[in-house]
Parts: sequence; C-alpha cells; structure tokens
Amino acid sequence: MIKSCFNIVLVLNIVLIVHFASADIYLHNPRGSNNRLDEAGRARNTATRLFDSQNNNRGGYNVGSLYYYTGSILPIEWTNQHSCGDINSHCEIVLQYACGDDIRDGTTTNRIPADRSRCLDNNCQTDPTYGLQESYEHYLMCTRRQRNGGLYTADQRLRGDTARFTRQNPGGTQYGYECPEERDYYPYWHHSPWRDIAILTNDPTRCSFYKTESANVKDRFECRLPVEQLESNRGLTLPSNESECMKLPGAKWTRQPAWGIDSPVCRTAETTRDNHLGNTAQGKAVMFNWTVPDHLAGEKCVLRVRYNISTGDYDRWSTFAEHNNGGPVEFYKKFGFASKAAADARGFKLVNNPQVQLFGDSSKFKLQLNINTAQFGRVFQDRSHVFHVRARPSSIPSSAEILNLNVRGKRGNIVQVYPAVEYDFVPHLTHAKPGSYVHPQWTGSNTNPANNDGQGLAGTDRSNMLPLHDLAANIPDTNYSQGRNWTLNNGIGDWPLSDLTNLALLSPQPQLGGSMQLLNDAGTYFDLGARRVTNAGSWSFVCTRNNNFSNRSHKGRLVCSSDRSDTHVVDGQAYTFKVTDGTKTLAEVTVPAGAFSSLRYLQLRVTPHSAKAAKTDSDSVYGDTWFTDLLRIDVDGQAGEAFATPLLVSMVTNDGADPTEGHDVQVYRMETEFSSAVSHHGPLKSAEATRVEFRVDRPGVYAARGFANAPFGFVGLIVGLLVAALLISLIVAGIIVHRRNPEFFAEKLRFVQRSTQSKV
Ligand SMILES: *[C@@H]1O[C@H](CO)[C@@H](O)[C@H](O)[C@H]1NC(C)=O
Ligand SMILES: *[C@@H]1O[C@H](CO)[C@@H](O)[C@H](O)[C@H]1NC(C)=O
Ligand SMILES: *[C@@H]1O[C@H](CO)[C@@H](O)[C@H](O)[C@H]1NC(C)=O
Ligand SMILES: *[C@@H]1O[C@H](CO)[C@@H](O)[C@H](O)[C@H]1NC(C)=O
Ligand SMILES: *[C@@H]1O[C@H](CO)[C@@H](O)[C@H](O)[C@H]1NC(C)=O
Ligand SMILES: *[C@@H]1O[C@H](CO)[C@@H](O)[C@H](O)[C@H]1NC(C)=O
Ligand SMILES: *[C@@H]1O[C@H](CO)[C@@H](O)[C@H](O)[C@H]1NC(C)=O
Repeated sequence: MIKSCFNIVLVLNIVLIVHFASADIYLHNPRGSNNRLDEAGRARNTATRLFDSQNNNRGGYNVGSLYYYTGSILPIEWTNQHSCGDINSHCEIVLQYACGDDIRDGTTTNRIPADRSRCLDNNCQTDPTYGLQESYEHYLMCTRRQRNGGLYTADQRLRGDTARFTRQNPGGTQYGYECPEERDYYPYWHHSPWRDIAILTNDPTRCSFYKTESANVKDRFECRLPVEQLESNRGLTLPSNESECMKLPGAKWTRQPAWGIDSPVCRTAETTRDNHLGNTAQGKAVMFNWTVPDHLAGEKCVLRVRYNISTGDYDRWSTFAEHNNGGPVEFYKKFGFASKAAADARGFKLVNNPQVQLFGDSSKFKLQLNINTAQFGRVFQDRSHVFHVRARPSSIPSSAEILNLNVRGKRGNIVQVYPAVEYDFVPHLTHAKPGSYVHPQWTGSNTNPANNDGQGLAGTDRSNMLPLHDLAANIPDTNYSQGRNWTLNNGIGDWPLSDLTNLALLSPQPQLGGSMQLLNDAGTYFDLGARRVTNAGSWSFVCTRNNNFSNRSHKGRLVCSSDRSDTHVVDGQAYTFKVTDGTKTLAEVTVPAGAFSSLRYLQLRVTPHSAKAAKTDSDSVYGDTWFTDLLRIDVDGQAGEAFATPLLVSMVTNDGADPTEGHDVQVYRMETEFSSAVSHHGPLKSAEATRVEFRVDRPGVYAARGFANAPFGFVGLIVGLLVAALLISLIVAGIIVHRRNPEFFAEKLRFVQRSTQSKV
C-alpha cells in the first residue's frame, strides 16, 4: 500500500521534471522564427543563429515581413508547452520588443560572428549577410562584464566569469548577439536593448515590482570602456559595480536612461495545460493584444517572448549563490531531515539526477530523479522576424482603432507543421466597431518542406480571403461568383468590390495571368491596407487555396457591432476601464484591488437606452427619465456572483439630463438589457451635470433613471402617495359625514373644548 503511494509520488515527480526539459514556446503571430531564416528543412539549420530559444528544432516559420500602423492592435499569439497560470509550476511570460536601424533578418542561416574581422568591412554590426537583433557592442560588453556572482547556479560549473556564462548556459555558447545573463533573468540589472510590453505571471503580487523595476521607467548603470579598448585587451573584465568600475583606468560607470515609456502591463497569466501546445482553459488562443506605440513610427523592430518556468522545490526569489552545490540550505528542513548531511546522505540535494532513498533504513532502495540543474528553472524564448512600424495615415482619425488581421501557420498537415500550426486567420474572430479600421495583411514562403501537404505549388504557401455565408460553409459566397451586386452585409466589411477582388486574387500588385487558380503565380506578400468598417454586420471568410474540408480549415470572421463592448482580463489588481464609442467615453469602471480573487474576463457593454425603450414596455421600468444608457457588466465564470468589493461605475448622462436639477435619480439593475424585470439597485454615489457615479456589487445591466418633481425619491414617492391617498380618503369621509350630520364636527369641537377646560 505504502509502496504504491510512493511510486505514484515518484512517478509524478519524474514526469514533472522530464517536461521541464521540453517546455517550449512558439510564437505564431507575428510569425516566430525559432531561429529559422528560410530553410526548407523541417528542422531549423542553426539553433544559435540569433538567440537561445531552447525550443524543439522543428518549430518556427520562415522569414516574411509585415508592417503595423502605430496605435494599431496587434494580436500576439503563441503556444507554451508546460502550462502557465495554474498550480503546476511557477511561470512568467515576458513580452518585449527591440528596434534599430541595423536590425535585420540577414541572408544566411549561419550565426553572426563574434569576431568582427570575419565580417564585411570588419563590421558585423552592418554586414547584411548575418541576421542581427542585438548590437555588436551589447554582446561585446556582455562577454567582458563580470557576471553577477550572487546568482544561484546549483552545481553547474560555469566555464567563465563573465555575463556570457549562466546556470542555463554554463559553457557560454554564443547565440547571435544575445547576452546569456540578460536572457535568463528579468528584470535585468544592466542595460538591455529590450523594451517591455507585458509580464503575465502566476504571481500578480509581483506586478508592482515589475512595473517599477522595468527599464521602461527605471535607469540602468553599467561599467563601460570604449569598444576599441575592450577589443584590444582581451583579458580585461568589466566590473559589475560602481566602486570597482571607478578603479579601472578609463572606465566609466555609465547611466542608461529609462526608455521613458509606460510601465509594462502586468497581470495573471491565463491558464494553459501541461504537455499541450494549445489554447487557454477558456478555449481561446493564448494571446496578448498589443497596441503598437506611437513612438515606434518609422522603426524596424523585433518582438521577443520569453517563457520562464521555475520549480516549486525551492524558493526562487530567495535562493542565491550561497545555496549552490547541494541545494538551498532549507532543503533538509523541507524534507523533514535533522541536518543537511542527513538529507545529502539520502540524496535530497539539488544536483543532477540524484538518487533518493525515500524510506530511510527500512528500505534501502533508491530511485533516480531526472533533474538537470541547468534546466531546473528555465527560460524558453521565441522571437519574430523583423517587422516595420509606420505612422498611422493622416486619413485615419487618431481616435479610430486599427485592427491588424493577419494569417498564421504554414503549409503542411498537423503532424508535418507541428510544433508550428496549420493556417488560420489571426485573430480568428475580429471584433470591430463602426468606424474601426481593419488591416488585412499577410505573408507566406516559397521554401517550406517540399513534401508538406497542401494545395498549390509544392513547398509554397499563399493565402487569400473570400466571403463565406457562414463559418460552417466551405464554398465562397455565390453572389460573388455570379457577378451580382454587393449589398449590405454581403461582402467582407461592406468594402468595395475592388477590395474584395484584391483580397481574392492578391492584387492590386498585378498578377499577370499564369497559374492563379491556386495563386501559384502570386507573390508571398499581400497587403490590402487599412479599411474602414462603417456598418454593423457579421462577415465570414475563407481562404480558397488552403481551406480543404475536412482536412484543413482556413476561415475567419469579422463582426462589427454598434454595441460599445470590450473584454478585459482582470485579476486581483486594481484597474480602470473605459467604454468609448470611438470618440467619447461613455462609461468608466473602476475595479478596486481584491474585487476578483483570480483571473476573469470582464466584459463591459453600453447599449443606448433608446434601444431598450424601443423593445420594452416602458411602463415596467421605474422612473420616467433615462439619465444614462445601459451598462452591462459580465464576468466569465462568475455569473451572478457578487464581487468581493463593489466596482465603481461612472457614466455620462444623456444630453440635457442633469441629475442635479429637480430630479430624484436612482440606479436600477436588470438581468439583461431587454428584460422587463427591473429592480431598484441603490442611490447614486455622486452626480454632476454631465456624469453620475454609483457602485455595483454583482454582474448585471445597470442604468440611472429619475423621477421629475419627486423630491423624496422612490421610497418617498410611494410613502407620499400612501399619505396622499390617506388624506384624500379622510377628507372625502369628512365631507360625507359633514353632509349627513352637519352638527358632527361642531359637536366634536365642543367636546374637545370641554375636555381641555376640564383638565385646566
Ligand atoms: C525566471 O525565474 C527566475 C526564478 O526562478 C528568476 O530569477 C529569473 O529572473 C526569471 N527570468 C526571466 C527571464 O523571467
Ligand atoms: C563589487 O564587485 C567586486 C567583484 O567584482 C566585489 O568584490 C565587491 O564586493 C563588489 N562591491 C559591492 C559594493 O557590491
Ligand atoms: C483581445 O482583443 C479581442 C478583441 O477585442 C478580445 O476579444 C480578446 O478577449 C482580447 N484578448 C485578451 C487576452 O485580452
Ligand atoms: C485536400 O487535402 C488532402 C490532404 O492533404 C489532399 O490529399 C487533397 O489533395 C486536398 N485537396 C485538393 C483539392 O487539393
Ligand atoms: C445574394 O444577394 C441577394 C441580395 O442581393 C440576397 O437576397 C441573396 O440571399 C444572396 N444569395 C445568397 C445565396 O445568399
Ligand atoms: C449596387 O447597389 C448599390 C446600392 O443598391 C447601387 O447604388 C449601385 O449602383 C449598384 N451597382 C451596380 C453595379 O449595380
Ligand atoms: C482529405 O485527406 C484525405 C487523406 O488524408 C483524402 O483521402 C481526402 O480525399 C481529402 N479530402 C479532400 C476533400 O481532398
């Protein structure tokens, strides 16, 4: 009995550890390279080309560049293998970008040399042959700077003392110009060319730390010597602290100013499961909506995603160099041993593949654990190829959202492309508002493995986009093929016929005949440009070349709705969200810290009150004046449940409705926008001529309504009506009595006079 329990524990342990060694991350949009360039092999040629991914060699997509407008929303999608956002491991996902004039994809799959004499004009920084994502100087400084001696390296023997050598890279292998110490640790303490977008973590209590320590907002310092001096003096080591730096002749303790941009977003990671390159627990693609910052206009950039998973066997934030060789000192306590020696003797120490003797003397057998201390706590990574950022065209108002609509995946069946993915549109479902701009753009490749399944010329991928009646269908809209007129909601986005034919035939770059049935003679790259979606509607679309029911699905959908609706990911932190109609803020919802205990999807939607009035019998609604529209607050996975702390809502009042003037305004709650069951929710917290504020304690639909000329409020009105009714009936009764017996009141009056007199 005991033995079988033991086996289960051990098996679990071993399983857990094995997967540490293969928990990869693959970026799907923008296309992650996993160090590929354009090689036709299923595996990448050079795992060291640009960066240390520690991923499976088969991942990645071939090079292809897109551009994004500033202010546009880029859906960043990836898959990570060993779960995040659940209790199976500690995890952080760190999203960053770097830009620069010399950043390039290169033309060879070889790694850029560290020795610049091997590059064109003795200058690797500018040699167009080699891909470059970090600078020559960044790598040079890294290879000469003293490593941080306080870091926990377990029992790994680092073969050098500079930042090139880490627990995860003890041999100091060169990966492009990436600095291994900077790669493995975040936030990094010296200069890094990477600017932060977001940190998604299991432990949101660390968010305030990430937000204040991010190089976006905090200066960094490092010891610097001129490049020539470092190159000519190979034995030199740059100290990593100021006092030592000052002692080195010619060296300067140099400030790298903060990037001067917003702190990164930081929140709980969505739940993904182990051993599965898949979706979140909600069945959505693992993703982050990145708004491309305005300050990137005109830049060439790359995107980087790191996936950091750490074991729960030791405290990762307080285990340092003094715990090296044998594991953290607390290990013996944690496993119930009297001393470190006793724990060591039974194999309970953090070394490679220890053999543990669980039952002490009663049973001598040992079982080996699969531990690689270089990977017990490990960072995986993927990066995009180069992309370009263009300023938002002046024809697109700055208040309008621009939604990127791209294609992910590559040619092949699901087994052939794995761990990359088959084709899909990204996002699969685009949510636009009237006035939003949608920017369809994608790229393919001519050098996929020649034997991968797919339509069209072997080894190539191309994509197009044609209207489809509904997503379950596979044959494009016949109205197009019959050459009929496009009518409302018929062609994608209600865009003009020219756009629709361009999306179908990958023009306007003229495709001069040739084999176009399968788009073989079209180029890999296609850009429609940003197109306005003016009308509400829902459009499905299909890629005729790649969609092959039931073998492969390449479809997507665009929904444009005048409901002003947004979905936000929230956790236990404080947030403020706005619902806008594209130009003005209709509602603002403040979520106090602690309102939610774990990750939730908070949906906010504003529906005009006129839409309700049109659909509902207005008699069933209390009050007589709409002060606001209807705000719907939905929480996935928490339907109807009260918030731990009420949310504060601020809504604009309807034109001309001033709640401070002669009205009693109250807040009402409905289950849905159009349900007639309306309940009184509570009074306003505060009101101004243009805005009302109130608190809500659970999901539902809320609106403020008023009673003209009812100074005592809703309850007051009822009481007032009752009092009035009572008074009227008394008066009526009095009149009747008086008519029948005119002496009645005179007698009563005399009686009152007598009784008061008798008391005197
Ligand atoms: C990964 O987690 C470790 C703790 O286990 C931490 O020291 C390191 O800075 C993290 N690295 C990244 C890139 O997040
Ligand atoms: C600075 O670094 C040196 C080694 O490079 C170390 O001996 C010294 O203690 C460090 N000083 C501080 C203040 O950290
Ligand atoms: C990204 O934006 C889309 C469209 O607004 C939304 O449906 C989705 O939930 C968002 N995803 C995340 C993770 O924020
Ligand atoms: C559809 O896909 C299957 C499997 O990849 C392939 O055998 C078939 O030829 C494809 N159909 C067309 C019309 O290309
Ligand atoms: C084609 O468009 C017309 C309107 O022009 C519409 O009535 C008809 O239903 C459409 N055809 C199909 C197959 O949906
Ligand atoms: C298509 O329909 C629209 C709206 O009904 C009309 O204005 C336009 O002239 C039509 N175009 C053609 C080519 O029939
Ligand atoms: C789908 O693929 C199978 C083989 O994988 C093939 O037999 C079948 O014909 C394909 N379907 C189509 C529509 O091509």
